[in-house]
Parts: sequence; structure tokens; C-alpha cells
Amino acid sequence: MNLTERSFPPRPTVLAQDLLKPQIRAGDWVIDATAGNGYDTLFLAECVGASGRVLAFDVQEAALVAARERVEEMPWVEFFHQSHGEMAEHAAAASVAVVMFNLGYLPGEDHALTTEVNETLEALKAAQGLLKPGGLLSVICYPGHPSGAVEAAAVEEWMAGLPALGWRVAKYGALGTRRAAPFLLLAAKGAQATGSASA
Ligand SMILES: C[S@@+](CC[C@H](N)C(=O)[O-])C[C@H]1O[C@@H](n2cnc3c(N)ncnc32)[C@H](O)[C@@H]1O
Repeated sequence: MNLTERSFPPRPTVLAQDLLKPQIRAGDWVIDATAGNGYDTLFLAECVGASGRVLAFDVQEAALVAARERVEEMPWVEFFHQSHGEMAEHAAAASVAVVMFNLGYLPGEDHALTTEVNETLEALKAAQGLLKPGGLLSVICYPGHPSGAVEAAAVEEWMAGLPALGWRVAKYGALGTRRAAPFLLLAAKGAQATGSASA
């Protein structure tokens, strides 16, 4: 592995896709909880292929327009102009292989329209129940601004509680940066995982 200045430390967005890609199978059901500009939506759509299904959520029309354009020829992607807190309306419990969250605001749009800590925690609990055994939950947090820092701390605390319920959890991020660097949290649901969407 060649660790150049451009590639190390890896950006959490790149790392998340690199870690998830080998785990996703053609035909899987997966969820993009924060569609944004659609980069993760496209990534997921390519991984699962036409026999799979991608459910993508965003509360901003501008995001949905951008994300839809990116997967125009991929009818196995379905968009919801709805909060990710509602994701359990659209998939059965224990049926989903991967749920991706990339928190924060839509680049280029109003920075005040950001993910919100209580809504995010609700959505994470929903994802917890939707993932099948062996499923993966990835969350990119942005502690570099005040509301992002509160959200990142709450999400990390929630994720750190999962191992007691039979999950494996890891945190990846750069250290020693001028501002708190974004980090990736990745959780794998064990075969014997307990706890429900409301846990
Ligand atoms: C950092 S961007 C996501 C980037 C995206 N994953 C990509 O690949 O381009 C965060 C997105 O979360 C969306 N968002 C904020 N609150 C939300 C909510 N409650 N439910 C779903 N999406 C939300 C924002 O509108 C924004 O588009």
C-alpha cells in the first residue's frame, strides 16, 4: 500500500466505501440514509446491481434532484423525500445488508440544514432493527463545528453501547489535526445480536 499525502490518512468517505464494498452482494437490499449529492447512492447501486435495491433518504429537494441525476439509469434505486427516521416504513426487520449515514450538511447548500442529533439517533435505532445478522452500519461524523461536535459525541456514545448487544464496532479518523477531523464509525451486527429498533 502506497501511503501518499493524498491518500493518508484516508478520507472517511473513501474509507467507508472501501470497507463496505467487499461485504455487499449482488441482490442485497441497502439504505443510503443521507443521499446528499448521491455519491454513496451511486456506490451502493453499483454494488447491489439490478437484482438489488437501494432505498435513499433526504429531507432536501436539492439533494434529491442531484442524487437522482447520478443514478438516472438505475431503477433499482428508490428515493424518499423523508427523514431517515422513517426508514423502518420501507423495509422489513432484519432484511438489509448495509445502512450508510454521512452526517452534516449538503456541500454547496445552506449549512444550517444539517442532520440533527435526536433525529439521527432515532434513525440509527431504526437501522439497528432493519439490519440482518452480518449487516453493517456506517456513520461518518463531523465534529469540526459546534452542532456537529454534539451530534458526533452522541452518535459515538450510542455506537459504543452496541457491543454489549452482540455487535462489533470500530472508529477510524485522523489525529492531531487543527480542527477535530471527521471520523467513521463502523458497526457489524453479530449473528446473536440482541436489542430491537427501539433498544
Ligand atoms: C453530508 S450530506 C450527505 C452526502 C452524501 N452521502 C453523498 O454521497 O453525496 C448530508 C445530507 O443529509 C441530509 N439530511 C439532513 N437531515 C436529514 C434527515 N433527517 N433525513 C435524511 N437526510 C437528512 C442533508 O439534507 C444532506 O443532504
